[in-house]
Amino acid sequence: MSRLLAISDIHINHVANQEAVASLGNYRDDWLILAGDIGNGPDDLRTCLESLSPRFAQIVWAPGNHDLWTLPADRERGEPVGVARYEQLVSLCRRFGVLTPEDPFATWTDGSDSAIVAPLFTLYDYSFRPRSVAAGDALQWAADAGIVCADEHFLSSAPFPTLPDWCHQRIRYSEQRLDEVTPTDGQQLVLVNHYPLVEQLVRLPRIPRFSLWCGTLRTSQWHTQYDVDAVVYGHLHIRSSDIVDGVRFEEVSFGYPNQRRSGRTIDSYLVQIKPNPVPADRCKGAS
Ligand SMILES: [Fe+2]
Ligand SMILES: [Fe+2]
Repeated sequence: MSRLLAISDIHINHVANQEAVASLGNYRDDWLILAGDIGNGPDDLRTCLESLSPRFAQIVWAPGNHDLWTLPADRERGEPVGVARYEQLVSLCRRFGVLTPEDPFATWTDGSDSAIVAPLFTLYDYSFRPRSVAAGDALQWAADAGIVCADEHFLSSAPFPTLPDWCHQRIRYSEQRLDEVTPTDGQQLVLVNHYPLVEQLVRLPRIPRFSLWCGTLRTSQWHTQYDVDAVVYGHLHIRSSDIVDGVRFEEVSFGYPNQRRSGRTIDSYLVQIKPNPVPADRCKGAS
């Protein structure tokens, strides 16, 4: 019987994580959601998909910021940046039959239960900040606490002038696609995005001002505006399960090697999204 499983932030540019991915079991009846930050660019994504695509019935991918990076060595080689980098990653996914935010939404089913799986790509616009901080002061507000995301050096928005401009184009595109969904037979959506859709889930006690790079207020109603069963995301590297307005939110990060307890297999980090409801020991019930 098929299941819908999820993981994100496997960052296989770290050797221990690449070894973990290689050790993953076979799940040939199941679908796998990869919610971004597979590695630092197309070479890492290709390595991951070569390893994982034979082991699952279907993979669904949403990009993370690290996937979109163009590092200095990449730029010297003339590799694509910004939107062109994203399109390069989408093409790579399609070569492996992996579904992306540019493909029609697909329906997962186990025969009795089903869901429309919607991979998204929304980026951020620095709007996750105190209302007392003006938009134009946001980056300085974070810098005052010593916080500057590496995206500011490695994530290009080209040809958009700024990342918020690209973000807002992605919001319009995503809403248009979600508006067109017509679920049948009680089917609901599973939204897949690298970034949390709601600000209240950005809980970063050690680096609170990193919130700037974690999403946009423009997605804050999507889980109620659309008929959503669950939202799958990553980026925070802090695994959690929450219920917000009656909707299940799952942060499914694998994370960096030093962020995990030793002795746990990568298989144990796969989060089952469907068909089961929230496991009681994971759900905190935020609101
Ligand atoms: Fe990450
Ligand atoms: Fe990320």
